[in-house]
Amino acid sequence: MTSSHRITLLAGDGIGPEIMGVARQLLDAVAARHGFSLHYDEQPMGGAAIDATGVPLPESTLQACRASDAVLLAAIGSPQYDTLPREQRPESGLLGLRGGLGLFANLRPVKIIPALIEASTLRREVIEGVDLMVVRELTGGIYFGTPKGRVETADGVRAFNTMAYSDTEIDRIATVGFDLARQRGGRLCSVDKANVLDVSQLWRDRVERLHASSYPDVELSHLYVDNAAMQLVRDPRQFDVLLTGNLFGDILSDEAAMLSGSIGMLPSASLGAGGPGLFEPIHGSAPDIAGQDKANPMAMVLSAAMMLRVGLKQDAAAADLEAAVDRVLARGFRTGDLMGPGCTLVGCRAMGEQLLAALEG
Ligand code: IPM
Ligand code: MG
Repeated sequence: MTSSHRITLLAGDGIGPEIMGVARQLLDAVAARHGFSLHYDEQPMGGAAIDATGVPLPESTLQACRASDAVLLAAIGSPQYDTLPREQRPESGLLGLRGGLGLFANLRPVKIIPALIEASTLRREVIEGVDLMVVRELTGGIYFGTPKGRVETADGVRAFNTMAYSDTEIDRIATVGFDLARQRGGRLCSVDKANVLDVSQLWRDRVERLHASSYPDVELSHLYVDNAAMQLVRDPRQFDVLLTGNLFGDILSDEAAMLSGSIGMLPSASLGAGGPGLFEPIHGSAPDIAGQDKANPMAMVLSAAMMLRVGLKQDAAAADLEAAVDRVLARGFRTGDLMGPGCTLVGCRAMGEQLLAALEG
């Protein structure tokens, strides 16, 4: 029996539609090769949804996501929406999607691609062999904590957010981190600010407790977030799995992404307790190059691969997409963000064609 999967596609804003177009072509090609079928449901999200419906995450989009086997998102956001009230901005739609699908675990793998070592701003001897995974808590912490807001007081305006975690929220994300460490290099580094923040002390206490009770075989360490930021550029090879909360994970995952040379190379997965996962590149909507056929579609294609492997259990098809990316890079094709001496500059569409051709070997 041929299996079939329902995928919600959220192309979003900026370069989103261009890179999604490339990913879709490649998904169709690998599905045909491996004998499964993919049914796409394209839904508006982010600025595109604001233009069409007035809100960044229409209820119909959330329902379509819930009804699918996996959700593939390109990118959202554009400066033109930055003056809207917070709840109506594209970014709020993304937080609504994460919250609405219960996607508490965000996995951001950072692996150095040998052909791109020279594209990094860091020296070869620092980054060669880096292979780490950031596990970021995604539906709690200061992004979702209450009270929050902005008030007029007798002394002027005050604005505030709340960084809060419960023991159960910490335990479930730490479990994801420990399980991944077991499947990978056996090492977990938990990042917090326990020297200053109460919420971080609870984080550290729970991680240690879980380690002692269930994961004594995993090598556990702790770093304060400022030190972790420094260690990531000083000696990134020391890390296997980095476990952290929502805000610290946002910052450290951008930093870790740059180790690989371009944020345009990195995929991510957001997973909950069952239900569809959300797969998206780490990079944003790059409004400055939108519509100019300059975007790098590789993180999008690698996100599609992550969707195939993690979300749909189509490992062989995922491996084909990853191999195509490696081949095209080895052949010297580069989008502008990765361009280097002796390489061939291509646009987004041409990169898509090279990737399709590389599927054949
Ligand atoms: C990310 C992004 C988002 C975040 C924004 C767009 C809301 O930076 O996925 O890392 O802060 O989580
Ligand atoms: Mg971010």
